[in-house]
Amino acid sequence: MNLILLGPPGAGKGTQAKRVAEAFKLLHLSSGDILRAERENKTELGRQAQAYMDRGDLVPDDLIVTMMQERMSRPEAQAGVVLDGFPRTEAQAVRLDERLAEKNTQVDVVVCLELDDALVEDRLTGRVYCPQCGHTYHTAHSPPKAAGACDACGQGLQRRPDDEVEVVRRRLRTYHEQTRPLTAYYRDHGVLRTVDGSAEAGVVTRAIQEVCQPA
Ligand code: AP5
Repeated sequence: MNLILLGPPGAGKGTQAKRVAEAFKLLHLSSGDILRAERENKTELGRQAQAYMDRGDLVPDDLIVTMMQERMSRPEAQAGVVLDGFPRTEAQAVRLDERLAEKNTQVDVVVCLELDDALVEDRLTGRVYCPQCGHTYHTAHSPPKAAGACDACGQGLQRRPDDEVEVVRRRLRTYHEQTRPLTAYYRDHGVLRTVDGSAEAGVVTRAIQEVCQPA
């Protein structure tokens, strides 16, 4: 199965993609995580992507498509993938379809997590994460036991530079202008399902698993 999680920044795509990948034994591929790792490793791709990410703009399609196709051609992706953050434009979606068709496979389900902009802003401007083990916290709603330190490993917590309020607002505009229209694209292909992303995380996980069951 090839599954796409679509939705605004902060909708819970990363949170849910990990759970769904584990439940369905699929490979989780997050375009945002891959780009952040490229930046961390100071690669040429990371350097090229940095300014776009810091502004809250999309990284150019060619860079993203090449990066994701390379990951999807690895042996561990052959049983199917959960795509988190990709595709984000119609051009990316078309190229993904073409690539999958070459391998006699296709996008099976696209789950769009629906969430209003105010909740996105609240979630992201309060988000802190552990650079060591990846745990995320919210400074008001799910704070760590000791302020600024990860409960799991004690490492100092950080904020993503693109979680500053002005950048979050720009990411939201980018989503509405360039990514949200993909819901029409996938509806036309008969694979779109929608889930309320504002519910508690466990409820969202169960809803995603339900809409992924064959009819
Ligand atoms: P990316 O990293 O993909 O960022 P994003 O889509 O903006 O998503 P986030 O990672 O912020 O949120 P999420 O939906 O995964 O939610 P999460 O589970 O973390 O992309 C970053 C940048 O990279 C882009 O701006 C762009 O520049 C570039 N890029 C990436 N892909 C690209 C592409 N295909 N094309 C071009 N450019 C690309 O949850 C958020 C918070 O909410 C967490 O703290 C979490 O704990 C909490 N939370 C989650 N679910 C719930 C819940 N149900 N209830 C309460 N809290 C919850």
